[in-house]
Amino acid sequence: MKIALGADHAGFEYKDRIAQILRDRGHDVLDFGTHDATPVDYPQYGYVVGEAVATGQAERGIVVCGSSLGIAMAANKVPGVRCAAVSEPYSAELARRHNDANVLAFSERLSGWEMVERMLEIFLETPFDGGRHAYRVAQLFEFGNEQRSRTLRDLERGEVTDARTPGDLVGVPPGG
Ligand code: RB5
Repeated sequence: MKIALGADHAGFEYKDRIAQILRDRGHDVLDFGTHDATPVDYPQYGYVVGEAVATGQAERGIVVCGSSLGIAMAANKVPGVRCAAVSEPYSAELARRHNDANVLAFSERLSGWEMVERMLEIFLETPFDGGRHAYRVAQLFEFGNEQRSRTLRDLERGEVTDARTPGDLVGVPPGG
């Protein structure tokens, strides 16, 4: 798999270790840096990894910063990116199975390395479940003008009035 990597100064050590593991396993790594502890701005690294995935230059992305949060927020600004900031294996698994996450964000300051290694493994090995989840994931990319008008109307009314259900789609099982 072709995997894009990016990190700020608070995440580059884990990012480098991840790059090594991926290369050892035969993956193709696109490493966008950073490469040392000189302070840099995490949004730039989240954006470039996001764009690599969104444009198809990489199939997946992994981003690392101090907390995992800022760089995940940046990656998620790129249309087409589904980046999950994760700190334990079950979330990493669900990010793949239910959300089809194409980018994961790790924290170098808060997560131990063994935990990150485990989550990396899960990210690489776990398929997307599809079905009802595909229908929901698709809605994440409908956040254009039509969706915004609908949401702003819901906001005014104080409730979600026309949440569509999987039953609206042929072949998608309900529930779950
Ligand atoms: C850098 O100090 C830190 O703010 C950054 O790595 C990240 O945690 C931001 O969300």
